[in-house]
Amino acid sequence: MARIVAGIGSSHVPAIGAAIDNGKTEEPYWKRVFSGFEKSQEWMRETKPDVAIIVYNDHASAFSVDLIPTFALGCAAEFPPADEGWGPRPVPVVQGHPALASHIAQSVILDEFDLTIVNKMAVDHGLTVPLSLLYGQPAEWPVRVVPLCVNVIQYPPPTAHRCYMLGKAIARAVASFPDDLRVVVFGTGGMSHQLQGPRAGLINKEFDRRFLDKFATDPEALTKIGHVEFVREAGSEGIELVMWLIMRGALEQDAKEVYRFYHVPASNTAVGHMILENRRAA
Ligand code: DHB
Ligand code: FE
Repeated sequence: MARIVAGIGSSHVPAIGAAIDNGKTEEPYWKRVFSGFEKSQEWMRETKPDVAIIVYNDHASAFSVDLIPTFALGCAAEFPPADEGWGPRPVPVVQGHPALASHIAQSVILDEFDLTIVNKMAVDHGLTVPLSLLYGQPAEWPVRVVPLCVNVIQYPPPTAHRCYMLGKAIARAVASFPDDLRVVVFGTGGMSHQLQGPRAGLINKEFDRRFLDKFATDPEALTKIGHVEFVREAGSEGIELVMWLIMRGALEQDAKEVYRFYHVPASNTAVGHMILENRRAA
């Protein structure tokens, strides 16, 4: 039987990918960011999950404003890095898990969460930067990936509560997959940041720290945060944090926080990172 062993929260700032790809990780500005992921890379090498369900958002790379699915599940055998304007990142092609992805699609759709099924999709920094932060620069990614793309680009994104409940449906789906797979769920994006308008550059450390505290111990409190509060407190791109709640919903209520890192800034963004382990499914 497949089981979710842990959840990983991580920001996805594209400049982090550029720093890795251009050999800048030892520069003092970037070292402060990457040092926060050294223990996590060790944890990944020890945990060795078979599959990562990566909840992320596309930034008009795979989808344009012509077509914006609320939740899109990648069921393909592989997902190439997207061209984001400077060419695709020089990272390995992401290998999918079509059997698990199709099972999740069937399970959650019959559970009344209507996902879009995607059989061909390129993946941008929203997915590849968290992978790089957790795995470094391997010749091949050592994990198969089921991408779950969420609309946090154009109003209205899904609510925090809807995301949390979808996470629970995903947990039921994984638990009913017959193969013996150890699965981690990534919740990516955030934390506070705003890239546009008069408040560009906004960071709210107090909001972020409260979010991380509640995320670990009382995630249901966070499902009550509405869109206006997210945008007011965490900036227009801070709404990306609803994706973390899909991951949290997929974990046990009393999942154990085993690692946390928070750093301001990387590019325009507050970088947040947390690892939570399920207590019963290890
Ligand atoms: C930045 C952050 C993002 O989340 C993004 O998608 C693009 C840019 C930034 O901090 O520069
Ligand atoms: Fe983003």
